[in-house]
Amino acid sequence: HLLLGGAAAGAGAAALIGADALLRAAGGGEPAAAPAPPFGTRTVAFHGRHQAGIATPPQAHARFIAFDLDGGADRDAVRRLLRLLSDDAARLTAGEAALADTEPELAHDPAGLTVTFGFGPGLVERVDPAAVPEWLGPLPEFGHDRLRERWCGGDLLLQICADDPVSVSHAARMLTKDTRAFARVRWVQEGFRRARGAQPEGTTMRNLMGQVDGTTNPEPGTEDFAGLVWNRGEGGAAWLRHGSALVVRRIAMDLEGWDRLDRPGREEAVGRRLSDGAPLTGGAEHDEPDFAAVGALGFPVIPEYAHIRRARSADPAERIFRRAYNYEDAEGAGLVFAAFQADVDRQFTPIQRRLDELDLLNEWVTAIGSAVFAVPPGCGPDGFIGETLFG
Ligand code: HEM
Repeated sequence: HLLLGGAAAGAGAAALIGADALLRAAGGGEPAAAPAPPFGTRTVAFHGRHQAGIATPPQAHARFIAFDLDGGADRDAVRRLLRLLSDDAARLTAGEAALADTEPELAHDPAGLTVTFGFGPGLVERVDPAAVPEWLGPLPEFGHDRLRERWCGGDLLLQICADDPVSVSHAARMLTKDTRAFARVRWVQEGFRRARGAQPEGTTMRNLMGQVDGTTNPEPGTEDFAGLVWNRGEGGAAWLRHGSALVVRRIAMDLEGWDRLDRPGREEAVGRRLSDGAPLTGGAEHDEPDFAAVGALGFPVIPEYAHIRRARSADPAERIFRRAYNYEDAEGAGLVFAAFQADVDRQFTPIQRRLDELDLLNEWVTAIGSAVFAVPPGCGPDGFIGETLFG
């Protein structure tokens, strides 16, 4: 398929058109009926310096599965588990059946499947107690949190993403099978964004409060992104070089309460317009907010309590890469907030501390789950994810 136009050309100007539709249109005659492109065959490379699923443009569906290692799973067992999982993740992401795949047909058409591994402190300790980074553990307590044990912690995380929920489901099932002799599922969180092809590629997602969410984010592929997201292997954790750190927070939204707030109130809570995500000081989505601007009465146009003012630090090193998903289940709706960074203590925590002190959004959002994982670097075709931890 071809991507015509781009974000800069404005909404409506960008259009995703199937190659055959384009050919038909070029040939004249028939109206271009733009059939949905077959995205299913798309693959994302599993092997590489960094794990996939971080700089990868977010796919439409995600499942985060946290496991607890069994008491008897020692260093050698963890190595066997990681080898097994890496081999199957490599196969599945390439659109091939897993080693003991009982439904091999479901492995075809991976739809951009990625599997990203994260290690909780419990796993790292079992392999090498000296290799646990200082920031790997529960976050400090925040006043607005209402954490439930059932959404917290975990020894091993698999973040499984694809543009098709069947691909996610099958990969999750095969990989969970691999863990059976070593671990138990602790929690599962399901997330979604707009279906691929529903909007032009590169459109910033909307969360379930209707806000454009993800505008100010480091740009994958840039040096800025690399410096903020990839770990440099410092502080006794050399094994994490080219890896990262992942914070997963399950944040419930009070959508009924949010419904009762008028539109100006909603926009002031964030500091951006609902229609297009532009800052309240004007312009377009990606224009810089003017935090110094004041209105006729002398009050800041972007209020002191606005989420974007509170979330932004004067220190450019204190930034994170957000890769969140919406969730909705029988208990409610919210955000599976997932943020990557090189160092949690220096990046996520100070931002969260400021938001906990003051952020009008706190009236409608509450963290009910929290987990931190070390994200190992990628591996080569003969290696496995986590190999650097074994020295
Ligand atoms: C910006 C929503 C939680 C950090 C934003 C924006 C929205 C938003 C609408 C503006 C657009 C953008 O730049 O993405 C939410 C909602 C949350 C939530 C609904 C909870 C359900 C968090 C948390 C953190 C965070 C937990 C980190 C601790 C940020 C940052 C920005 C941002 C760093 C960019 C600020 C800037 O302009 O520099 N968020 N957010 N957010 N949010 Fe959140």
